[in-house]
Amino acid sequence: MKIKFDSVTFGYEQGTSVVKDLSFEIDTNQMIAIIGPNGSGKSTIAKLMMGLLIPDKGHIYIDGQLLDEAGVEKLRSKMGIVFQNPDNQFVASTVKDDIAFGLENRCIERSEMLKRIKEYASLVKMDTHLERNPEDLSGGQKQRVAIASVLAMEPDVIIFDEATSMLDPIGVAEIIETLNMLKNLASKTIITITHNIEEVLYADQVLVINDGKILASGKPIDILTNNQILEQAHILNLPIVDLINSLGDENQQIKDALWEYLYKM
Ligand SMILES: Nc1ncnc2c1ncn2[C@@H]1O[C@H](COP(=O)(O)OP(=O)(O)OP(=O)(O)O)[C@@H](O)[C@H]1O
Ligand SMILES: [Mg+2]
Repeated sequence: MKIKFDSVTFGYEQGTSVVKDLSFEIDTNQMIAIIGPNGSGKSTIAKLMMGLLIPDKGHIYIDGQLLDEAGVEKLRSKMGIVFQNPDNQFVASTVKDDIAFGLENRCIERSEMLKRIKEYASLVKMDTHLERNPEDLSGGQKQRVAIASVLAMEPDVIIFDEATSMLDPIGVAEIIETLNMLKNLASKTIITITHNIEEVLYADQVLVINDGKILASGKPIDILTNNQILEQAHILNLPIVDLINSLGDENQQIKDALWEYLYKM
């Protein structure tokens, strides 16, 4: 699904805006990373995209269809979001029922439901915890269940709002790899809001947000080679990228080889 923000302005209180005349477009089959400092408006953008907030000014289009109060119900069923704090996301007393909850609401047939629970719980490596109470899980395990619950709905647009912040580094890499696979296999649009520089590497495009506006956008390599932008996004570059950035043009071959290594990491 394509997402388009057309001069979107939004504020929680009258007279102040936290998203300011924001315009951008995201294509189907893309993974977009959104980065930016605390309070810059990233989660607000995610909520606007989901139709959980409505712009004060401007318009949001999903596949060309205006996301307004009338269109939101239909479109929202095609979108899924995993929030930063998994604690507020559980509704059932077992992991299995929690993943089932959204599927039941959509009247998915029981056999299909059981198939999806198994499939997506395995994908996030929580299939041996299906009978446990989500409240008793560790932070990272909770995030894994929250991710499985959203993926099981098989939405066309998946938004991860710092949804991997509690995962161990290998867990993050596995989830991102899964998202990339889904993106290509099932034609999904994926948005990851993150402070984790490694997640930026996997994106097709990076949006850098500062004070409710786009500070920069481009391919990961464009953003990662611009330390000034990263500083404004409150992100520390990877040491290896710092090394690449410090190498002169006479070392282009080494630079290329290091980038290649990085992208394969
Ligand atoms: N429900 C709310 N009511 C009033 N102000 C809010 C509300 N939610 C967020 N804000 C304010 O809006 C601004 C943007 O917040 P937002 O949560 O979008 O930032 P963020 O970029 O996601 O930050 P973080 O990296 O800390 O998650 C902040 O100044 C915040 O205090
Ligand atoms: Mg946020």
